Order: sequence, then C-alpha cells, then structure tokens
Amino acid sequence: MNAGTRPPPRPSARVPGTSPRRVARAKPALERRRRRAKPDVVKERREAVITIDGPAGAGKSTAARELARRLGYRLIDTGALYRGLAWRVREAKVDPGDEAALERLLAEITIDLQDGAVLVNGRDVTGELRTPEIGELTSRISTLAAVREKVTPIQRRLAATGGAVLEGRDTGSVVCPDAEVKFYLDASPEVRAVRRRRELEARGTHVEAEEVRAEIRRRDRQDMKRGLAPLVVPEGAVVIDSTGRSVEQIVQVMLEEVARHGCCTRS
Ligand code: DC
Repeated sequence: MNAGTRPPPRPSARVPGTSPRRVARAKPALERRRRRAKPDVVKERREAVITIDGPAGAGKSTAARELARRLGYRLIDTGALYRGLAWRVREAKVDPGDEAALERLLAEITIDLQDGAVLVNGRDVTGELRTPEIGELTSRISTLAAVREKVTPIQRRLAATGGAVLEGRDTGSVVCPDAEVKFYLDASPEVRAVRRRRELEARGTHVEAEEVRAEIRRRDRQDMKRGLAPLVVPEGAVVIDSTGRSVEQIVQVMLEEVARHGCCTRS
C-alpha cells in the first residue's frame, strides 16, 4: 500500500451511533419526538390566501385588519402600494398623462410593504398616503396598464407564501383568482361617505360632507368603469353588505366562512 492511502472501510464497519443497542435505546426517544412533532405536521398545510374587494368606504380596511389579526395572517393593503406609486409620481412632478415619463419613473421605483409600512425607494411614506389628493391621483394612475403591470406582481409575491389577507379592488379577480376564500364588501353610498369622512377626520383632514360624497361617486365611476381590472364581484366571492353591521358582526361572518373552508390558521 502506498504511504498516505487508507484502506477502504470494511463492509461490516458501522455508521457511528447505529449499533443495535443504541438504535434500540433511541427508539422510544424517536417515537416521543415524532409525537411531539405532530402540531408541526398540521402547520405544514399551506395557510390560506383570503381576498376582500369592494368600493371605497365599504369598511374593507377595518374588517381586513381585524380578520388578519384574528387569524394571525399578514395584511396586504393593495391600495397602499398604488398610493405609494402615486406619491412618487407627485413627488417627481411627473404628468400621469406623459406615458414615456411615467414609464421611466416606473423603471426606477421600488415599492414594498413591510410590517404595514409602505416603502417607496426604501423611504417610509405611510403617513403621507391617505389624503384626498393622493386618493384621486391613485384612482387615476391605477387605470393605466403600465402601472398595474408594475404593482400586480409585487402583490402576488407578497401573497405567495399564503397566510395573507389581501384587501383592494381586484385581489380576488386578478391578483389572486385562486384564493381559498374571497369576499366582496359593499355598503350604501350614504354610509360609505359618512365612514370615509370619519376616517379622514380621524387623520386630521377636514373635508365637507358633499365633497366626500362627490369623491366617492367619482372614484366608484373610475374604479368600476376602467377597462383594466375593474372593480367587480370576483367569481366565487361571498358578498357582505356592511350597512348597519358592526365590524365585529362582519368579521364573524368572515371567520365562519374561513372555518367552513377548513383553512389553516396561525392563531
Ligand atoms: O383602497 P384605497 O382607497 O387605498 O385605493 C386607492 C385606489 O387604488 C383606488 O381608487 C383604486 C386603486 N386600487 C386598485 O386599482 N386596485 C387595488 N387592488 C387596490 C386599489
């Protein structure tokens, strides 16, 4: 044999730790571990994707936040991503009608949602998105194909692991048509206008009642009549009218539906 070469292991050589006595001793331990591991086996079932669509002021945000909290799921506010993009369009003073300028801006922008915060090119702009002006601009730019082509894949990526509640206008029809549970939340225009105004007041923005009603009418028209991903009741969605119902009552209906589908939860 040459110096430095080792003889091949003898066929009878055992892998360390596998002597018959050791294996016999290890068996009950293995069994115990397997029994303890059972809850993880249940967790391996993919957590669901739940979508909630509906018009402005229908109560989607509150219901979605509460549903996500109860299930231990992530909340994906898809409108916030469009608002983040509108924020950047405004900041860069890009005319949304100037297609070439808008496409240049889309190419350089990164938008993300992290723990509920909207990051535009790494900057947290969450606190600047809920103004009527950004709402209007968002509704306008979200009719454009280039904008939807930019935002939809980001939303799909965020939802890809499951365990998510998506809230928006096209989440059950376009973003995640295969979602396990879909809801469409609606309410009378009067109730929606009152809610929207309260929401704005809570954020320190005073707007006259008539102005809010006009904003709702304008956005409904824009969101429902657009050629691309218009606001529709997605196929298979459970429609809930939130008029006269408390958040708790709405979330209860949703939780019953989620349970009926046997979805896996983290809570
Ligand atoms: O939900 P919101 O008010 O933050 O949405 C702002 C605008 O974004 C809304 O007028 C339409 C648009 N939007 C959309 O086109 N698709 C979505 N999935 C979510 C929002």
